[in-house]
Amino acid sequence: MFAHKTRMMKSQINDIDQETENHDTFLNDVINGLTQSEKTLPSKYFYNAVGDVLFQKIMHCDDYYLTRSEMDIFKNKTEQLAEPFLQNSEPFELIELGAGDGSKTKHLLQYLTDKNAPFTYSPIDISEHILSVLEDRLSQDIPELKIKPENGDYFDALKRICDRSNQRKVVLFLGSNIGNMVYEDAIAFCSKLSSMLSPKDLVLIGFDLKKDPQTILQAYNDSTGYTAQFNLNLLQRMNDELHADFELNQFVHYPTYNPQTGACKSFLISQQDQTVQLGDEEISFKKYEPIFMEVSRKFSLADIRNLAEKTGFEPISHNYDSKQWFTDVLWQVK
Ligand code: AVJ
Repeated sequence: MFAHKTRMMKSQINDIDQETENHDTFLNDVINGLTQSEKTLPSKYFYNAVGDVLFQKIMHCDDYYLTRSEMDIFKNKTEQLAEPFLQNSEPFELIELGAGDGSKTKHLLQYLTDKNAPFTYSPIDISEHILSVLEDRLSQDIPELKIKPENGDYFDALKRICDRSNQRKVVLFLGSNIGNMVYEDAIAFCSKLSSMLSPKDLVLIGFDLKKDPQTILQAYNDSTGYTAQFNLNLLQRMNDELHADFELNQFVHYPTYNPQTGACKSFLISQQDQTVQLGDEEISFKKYEPIFMEVSRKFSLADIRNLAEKTGFEPISHNYDSKQWFTDVLWQVK
């Protein structure tokens, strides 16, 4: 009884330590971003509870084509996607980085299960909440599925999986999440991935392709206004969690797309000269000064080939949606 109580208190203290650490990291990261000569905020902080809901709404709105395009591939090209995973009946680990709600992956998992493929599905996500939702949903929909969720940072979790299993690995990184990385970061990310895996292991990566600039811009400037809310929500989150005093109606969402570089960037534009209190800092904004919020890069096939070449992968197959707006490419570790 007493031991039990002590243990509980210890775990509660750990939770509090963790929360303080998260809070301090968040505060440091945003102060660091807002004291640069070109102000910026890290887009990874978009995804709190409200941000998760807003991102779901974005994914369902007409202007945001990415999710529908990739869903088209997972629904209609399932066999082409999955066939290379099955070359022989050797068991494998199917690992998903940033699994989210798994609505696309479900089609793939159903197909592999129907084929009696010998695999374990390990979704990795930083949100423990979304992982438990995913696990519940999948064990309902596909009762035969072996699922081992891993909570945490992508590479920490991947390391744990590699340490416990020497089975062949197939890693999924979908949704054009790779587009949120600038070129050097994408190179570093893919290099690290190939170095942690073994020769012949596979990765399936989703890339949003370069297309009509107007179509791209509209996806980040949707008529429902969800993307604007999604960006402004980060200021609200700083008010709630860091006791900042941003006035949300004094900032306006401004997305841009550069067809030469393929960079779609979102900014929040200060509507007046103003100062904001943030921790011990006072941050001043000039009228029309931007905060750079997020980059969502768009790729040509040459960009994708170049990325594979520079990071230790060999391209195996490309799968497209019917409009050829999006591609899921399969790479093999060299
Ligand atoms: C989840 C990173 C792929 O960049 O398109 C959607 C996030 N931002 N609308 C993207 C996002 C604004 C999304 N990714």
